[in-house]
Amino acid sequence: MNRTKLVSAILAVGALLSVCDAPSACASSDRDDWSASERATILSMRLKETGDRPADPSNAVERLPEAARLGQSLFLDTGLSSNGKVSCATCHQSGKQFQDDRPRGQGVGVGRRRTMPVMGASHSPFLFWDGRKDSLWSQALGPLEDNLEHGSNRVAIVQRVSAHYLKTYEQLFGQMPELGTLPAAASPNGSNDERASWAGLTEIQRDRVNRVFANVGKAIAAFDRNVSYGESRFDQFADALAELSDQPSILNPAERHGLKLFLNQGQCSTCHNGPLLTDFAFHNTGVPPVDPKAPDRGRADGVQKLQNDEFNCLGRYSDARPEQCTELQCLVADAADQLGAFRTPSLRNVAMRAPYMHAGQFSTLDEAIAHYAKSPVAALGHSELARVGKTRHDRQIVRLSSADIQDIKAFLESLTGPVVSPDRGEAP
Ligand code: HEC
Ligand code: HEC
Repeated sequence: MNRTKLVSAILAVGALLSVCDAPSACASSDRDDWSASERATILSMRLKETGDRPADPSNAVERLPEAARLGQSLFLDTGLSSNGKVSCATCHQSGKQFQDDRPRGQGVGVGRRRTMPVMGASHSPFLFWDGRKDSLWSQALGPLEDNLEHGSNRVAIVQRVSAHYLKTYEQLFGQMPELGTLPAAASPNGSNDERASWAGLTEIQRDRVNRVFANVGKAIAAFDRNVSYGESRFDQFADALAELSDQPSILNPAERHGLKLFLNQGQCSTCHNGPLLTDFAFHNTGVPPVDPKAPDRGRADGVQKLQNDEFNCLGRYSDARPEQCTELQCLVADAADQLGAFRTPSLRNVAMRAPYMHAGQFSTLDEAIAHYAKSPVAALGHSELARVGKTRHDRQIVRLSSADIQDIKAFLESLTGPVVSPDRGEAP
């Protein structure tokens, strides 16, 4: 074989195997795999596009390292619970993606919904599956008084903070206010006895307790915001695509095909988009309720709760000026599509945290993906997904073969990266 023939034979084999070490040639072949709009969407899904976590104007201590340190201690403190056994880390475990792998959170009792990961939460304008909180600090106050989670009450929390964290508390928030004689337990949200004791406090006492309680949430939020996602193989792939360098080894053919389906046929990226693969919006996708007799109303109730929450952005314990509370000011209440709607979850690290959906309705990713092809009728409200006999102008019926489902699953698995936290949330 002469030299020219040898070279062309090698080239032919190279083309056949897609083996390629000439960057420019590969760049063009890779570019050809993706349309301009697919490419733009893929690049917009890179973690680095998240940018800086938006500052929360309602929390003045949010960025202070001392607040984060206090927040971490509080996050791990089982003494803040009614039975001395539950902390935030009981359900949000650092070794389990800051969640608990259970269908529904288990604290003092078993709750109605699945534990969400802490990662990504600081980017969301509304917290929880139903968005009933509008800041991380106000979110943190919920579990403390929830009778199925910490099962405690704000007066007990404030007394524990005075007894165990006084010095750090005062360094951050100034002098602990004079609280007078307080009962062991009192809260506007608690048992009949706790509510009666709360009503028995003076207005000044109630205000001071609320202020310290809010500050507890603000310190915890400063910790929460340091818990985030790290880059995945998908991000490396998208970076390579951005640089037009060909690295087919980063995502294999099944994963690439899964990504194609995710962007097109599956219509997944209409809701799961941006760097965290969520639009942070609320959608009814017809996920079957756990109890068909009492389906979860989701966002419809969340909006009402948020508006009535004394710890929202417009409330007196917020550090924001009213004009900074744009999300709350522009809130649409009573929209029909809020009934049975839940917040689109991030799909980062999703393969690491079965079961899925707001109450762990699906135990595997296969089931979660197949749900979109089944598109069941919603038990409450109306599903946004199209289905046979009920087409929608903005959506096509999602048709996925079982091989397609496996490929989408393979793509979702490529979204797994490390969890980044100050010291993985372990005891300091
Ligand atoms: C009993 C288990 C349990 C405990 C204890 C608990 N959580 Fe949660 N967490 C959950 C569940 C369940 C949800 C979702 C609840 C819902 O949507 O109604 C959640 C949601 C969250 C979210 C919302 C994430 C998002 O993206 O919207 C954050 C943040 C969070 N918890 C932090 C905390 C902190 C901080 C504490 C301690 C003060 C805490 N949790 C205590 C189970 C728990
Ligand atoms: C109309 C918006 C929308 C579309 C389109 C959509 N999703 Fe979702 N996705 C959601 C919402 C909302 C939830 C949470 C629903 C619930 O808990 O009731 C969710 C949940 C999930 C979950 C579970 C995640 C978790 O942490 O529990 C997975 C996996 C998922 N979607 C993948 C996909 C895939 C794959 C597609 C495309 C085939 C897709 N989604 C299309 C809005 C959407």
